Amino acid sequence: MIRLGNLTLDVPFYQAGLAGYSDAAMRLVARRHGCPYCVTEAMLDVFLIQGGKGLKAAELDPDDHPIAGQLMGSHPADIAQAAKILVGLGYDVIDVNLACPVKKIRKRSRGGHLLCQPQDAIAILDAVRQAVPPEVPTTVKLRRGTDDSPEAERDFHRIFEKVIEYGYAAATVHPRSVMQKYIGPSRWEFLRNLVQQYTPPSSSPVPCTPYPVPSFQIFGSGDIWTAADVFSMIEQTGVAAVSIARGCIGNPWIFAQCRAIATGDLDAANRPPTIAQQRQVLLDHFELSCRLHGERGASMMMRKFGIKFSRHHPDAANVAKAFIAVHTADEWHTVLDTFYTQAEPAMPIALVEN
Ligand SMILES: Cc1cc2nc3c(=O)[nH]c(=O)nc-3n(C[C@H](O)[C@H](O)[C@H](O)COP(=O)(O)O)c2cc1C
Repeated sequence: MIRLGNLTLDVPFYQAGLAGYSDAAMRLVARRHGCPYCVTEAMLDVFLIQGGKGLKAAELDPDDHPIAGQLMGSHPADIAQAAKILVGLGYDVIDVNLACPVKKIRKRSRGGHLLCQPQDAIAILDAVRQAVPPEVPTTVKLRRGTDDSPEAERDFHRIFEKVIEYGYAAATVHPRSVMQKYIGPSRWEFLRNLVQQYTPPSSSPVPCTPYPVPSFQIFGSGDIWTAADVFSMIEQTGVAAVSIARGCIGNPWIFAQCRAIATGDLDAANRPPTIAQQRQVLLDHFELSCRLHGERGASMMMRKFGIKFSRHHPDAANVAKAFIAVHTADEWHTVLDTFYTQAEPAMPIALVEN
């Protein structure tokens, strides 16, 4: 059991925020495959405050719980106001993004850029915690720092100590630097050191760190491509739970495989999805996406998912090509009827991004 403020997760993994992907459709598909908890993509505070489309997009499906609404912003008052809006919409957890490396975001001092402005990041963390009712947990997503300099590491720890002091329930750390973006590996060793530094051993009656908050949890992110990676990260770093990101795009089966590992069913953990299972998920995901975005929007949105899903198919290259050409629901169904009716088993796949 993983504690997250007043929530508990029955398994130590969840679906990450993934801008452009992790909408309600992807989240609901993940939940149907055993994902216990999801984080939204980062929402800009001002879009929520302005109302209209930004606010509409944040509305929740009753089946989409528990869920963290992730916020990104530059000004404490705005992000605090947006946090209250999300609480009003029924979000179970409010998550602050101090991780996004995208340039247009950094130029405006949001996301990961705030890691080199610790006083601003701390003011945001303070404002959000104060704005949110005490029974609603707050969490934060961080990268390991702006870059590899000692100043960046010092700034990270300055912020991290405040995360704990202000009563945040958990921090998800992606141990790549902001400058690193996605180049090179995620430094799991950083996670291990962080866990050792900030978590007192449960057997110890005397806290061994200056921040002995027993309910605070460190979660890990980075280079999780398979269900086995989730458990390797936990074993190697000691994080309480693992955020599954690129490894679950077009691969909701990873959640069922994680559950299978957790129960010791290694056959199920290694079983790739059959063509029939793939077809069903592709139908469900498209239908959920249509409800959210309409047929035209869903057809555009689902192309990129189709490419990712195609990697499970024995004829992956042709399937991907067919998905890329989809403009309508009929064309989506034609791809399924062409490629997803045969009985042969699916291929085990290598999910690592190229
Ligand atoms: C396309 C894309 C969009 C992302 N959007 C978000 C986001 O909105 N919020 C967030 O916290 N992280 C976001 N991330 C970061 C992931 O949650 C995760 O930390 C990162 O991909 C490292 O994990 P991985 O190597 O296992 O993919 C995004 C990553 C990608 C690739």
